[in-house]
Amino acid sequence: MPVRFSSRLPWQRLTNRFTQLQAELRGQGVPLLDLVVSNPTRALPELYRESLLLPLSSPEALRYEPSPQGAVAARQAIADYYQARGLTVSPEHLVLCASTSEAYSWLFQLLGNPGDGDGDEVLFPEPSYPLLPFLGSLAGVAVVPYPLRFDGRFHVSFPELASAITARSRAVVAVSPNNPTGSYLRQSEGERLLRLCATRDLALIVDEVFSDYALVDPWPQEGPRLLSLAELPPPLAELPALRFVLSGFSKVLGLPQLKLGWIVVCGPEPLRSEAQRRLELIADTFLSVSTPIQLAAPALLKERPQLFAGIAARIQASLTCLQQAFAGTAVSVLPVEGGWYAVLRLPRLISEEEWLLRLLTEDHMVVHPGYFFDFPEEAYVVCSLLTPPSDLAEGARRLLARLEKL
Ligand SMILES: Cc1ncc(COP(=O)(O)O)c(C=O)c1O
Repeated sequence: MPVRFSSRLPWQRLTNRFTQLQAELRGQGVPLLDLVVSNPTRALPELYRESLLLPLSSPEALRYEPSPQGAVAARQAIADYYQARGLTVSPEHLVLCASTSEAYSWLFQLLGNPGDGDGDEVLFPEPSYPLLPFLGSLAGVAVVPYPLRFDGRFHVSFPELASAITARSRAVVAVSPNNPTGSYLRQSEGERLLRLCATRDLALIVDEVFSDYALVDPWPQEGPRLLSLAELPPPLAELPALRFVLSGFSKVLGLPQLKLGWIVVCGPEPLRSEAQRRLELIADTFLSVSTPIQLAAPALLKERPQLFAGIAARIQASLTCLQQAFAGTAVSVLPVEGGWYAVLRLPRLISEEEWLLRLLTEDHMVVHPGYFFDFPEEAYVVCSLLTPPSDLAEGARRLLARLEKL
């Protein structure tokens, strides 16, 4: 009897056709224009001096005093970070983890029972972060998409979300601002979401990894954006929904390799405390956050203002560059509210796949296809706004030249 593998890994190949083609071209020595660079330490190396890492070498790390919730000083520093953003978060309500991806995994284990095709369900937005279905699958929960509809801006389609809820639904995921659409939850949307979760006994998981990076609001008439749900504004504060707010160093400091994320556990008592107690049992089982990063967290967070300013300035410069490059052309740069991605809508003279193929093999540039994020229609491509503006300008030139030839 051959070894059998878990059905939690339903996908066949992790490298798709485009990654393979990229590797082949690179192997042939073809220089590729990378417009999807998403690690700030690569995109903005000048921001990250080596001494930044000194706090990681504290000799205190030789003592191991594991705490499932995470070290008090690290949690206090994260609470101070929220305070600097005008939000009150109690360090007592924070649970540390190694990354936001791990936070998802723990929350899916906290909230859902696994099944073989009949497991509990978690609803997640589409288009959105492509790792979500994999994280759900690994945690044994079924992931059910609900659409974000585009009518000039992306917003939650509440009738479709409501009809996707079943007796097996356990949680709704919202990503604010969303990757890659850059759309924040508006206060009115947040209110509807919280009401829906409260009335249907669902938890709300809000991924806020990009929430610091707000750009000028293109639609101020749509009401205020919810820059965070870690503390709700007064009209929403009374809504009795259990919610988990996720973030981490990956985007807050632009340092995904340091592996520190967190969950703010919020909502009505005693449900909130009960959820946190159980979450800490999961955290205690893994104790996955390293001691050096917990000790270094306060010093690293002191670097945030400079790192944030550098990243935010790049995002703004790159967005302006894209908008100027495509102004008056058949390519539209969709309005971006925040985060560090831009979505381009391309004329559908050829399919999205064909666009990607030509841009890669003939123009030697790398962008993400819209289908990677499950856009409901074609043809979209996604670029990272961490990319240097000069590279984006060159990419725009090649793309427009390609369009001329179609
Ligand atoms: C929306 C979103 N959430 C979470 C993550 C992952 O963050 P982490 O590195 O903390 O796992 C990403 C990474 O790109 C992301 O885009």
